[in-house]
Order: sequence, then C-alpha cells, then structure tokens
Amino acid sequence: MSDIGKVFISPSILNADFNELEKEITRIARVSDYLHLDIMDNKFVPNFTFTFDRASQIISFSELPVDAHLMVDDPDIQAPRYAQAGCDSVTFHIEAAKNAKDIIKNIRSNGSKVGVAIKPRTKLSDVLHLIDEIDLLLIMTVEPGFGGQKFMEDQMGKVKEARDQINRKPDTKPLLQVDGGISLETIGMAAKSGANCFVAGSAVFKSSDPAEMVLKLRKLASENFKF
Ligand code: DX5
Ligand code: ZN
Repeated sequence: MSDIGKVFISPSILNADFNELEKEITRIARVSDYLHLDIMDNKFVPNFTFTFDRASQIISFSELPVDAHLMVDDPDIQAPRYAQAGCDSVTFHIEAAKNAKDIIKNIRSNGSKVGVAIKPRTKLSDVLHLIDEIDLLLIMTVEPGFGGQKFMEDQMGKVKEARDQINRKPDTKPLLQVDGGISLETIGMAAKSGANCFVAGSAVFKSSDPAEMVLKLRKLASENFKF
C-alpha cells in the first residue's frame, strides 16, 4: 500500500504513569505507529523527564519504534547517544544546536532517522535549508516543557507553509509532525493544514481508553489530511 495520504500517531508518555511505563506502552502499542519519548534536561526547558539510563531502558522495552524528542541544550552531544541507544528517530531543536549539519550526520551514522524541531517563536525559514536532509520536521504547537497545554492555532500558518515546501520536493518528503495540545478538537485542523504525524500526550493517556482514543484521533486525522 502506498504511504501517500497516510497519517502517523505517536503517543507521548509524558502524561502516562511513569511507574507503570511498560504497561502504559502495551496499552497503546497495537494501534500506534511510534512511541514519542520526551527528553527534558531542565535547562532547555524548565522540566526534567528521564536520565539517559532510564530512557535507554524505555527504548529497549518499547514494543513501538521510539520517536525521541530532545528538549536539551546540548543536542550536539546528546543526539548521537540516543541514536546509539536504538531510537527509530531522534529529533533535536534547532534553537539549541551548535552545528545542525553535524548533528544530522551523527544521528544518521549511528543508525537513526533524523528530526528537526522548532519552537512556536522560531521561524520556519530557520530550518528550511535542512529539509532535504531530514526525515521529520516537528512544528511545536505549544511552548515545549509540559503536557496538557493549549494548542496554538497560530502555528497553522507555519504548518501550511511547511507542507507546501515539502510537497515541492520530488522525492524526499519528511514527515510533518505537530506536538502539543493535539486532541479530538484540534487534530482535524492540524491535518487540514498539512501535518501527517501527530504527537498526543494527555489526550491519550488521560483518556479512560487510550487505545480507543488513538483510533479516534487517527480517523479524524486521515479524514482531514488531503495532501
Ligand atoms: C511538550 C512535549 C509534548 C507533550 C505533549 O513539550 O514535547 O510531547 O507530551 O503533551 P500534550 O499532548 O498533552 O500537549
Ligand atoms: Zn514532544
């Protein structure tokens, strides 16, 4: 089957029960595409999630390919380590990168796909020159740092422009991911704007039936993604 028109759901465990992560992941594994692993260092963002050792354990026991989102202030050093640990993809923030081209090369040479992320106040033009070299472009739809925040509708202009730029490329088409405030109320708008990969944290793990929620989100996303 062709991947055109396909959408991807990547539940974030930031709002899952950290003491029961294996169980939490199992609950959504069969219906999800990736597991979104938020790494925060309490420097790039005012919050801390996992040590590298704990993250490595999660990467090892996850039944889903891990989509790591590094919110750290030294991605030049950290990103290759997460690739070595076995992530399917490693996404770093352009705002924190000293040498983005080197990070991209080092993630790839350690066996992972590459993602680049921008915060709400960062311009799309800061990453457009990298679009041919990456597998995923993440446009944040909240200020990174915490789950459960309100979706920033004002980022949709950037998502539309990114979709336009991506679709002009003849072959390499990175996934266009949105992260923050994705729910049954907002996922349709994000898909309509051109996103095809959706991170959802609290919408999934605060729901009484996380797997059912993933299915509902996927249905709404695919109905609205027309690219
Ligand atoms: C926020 C994280 C998100 C977070 C999303 O900085 O990058 O991945 O888990 O959580 P929700 O879906 O609750 O906004
Ligand atoms: Zn994230």
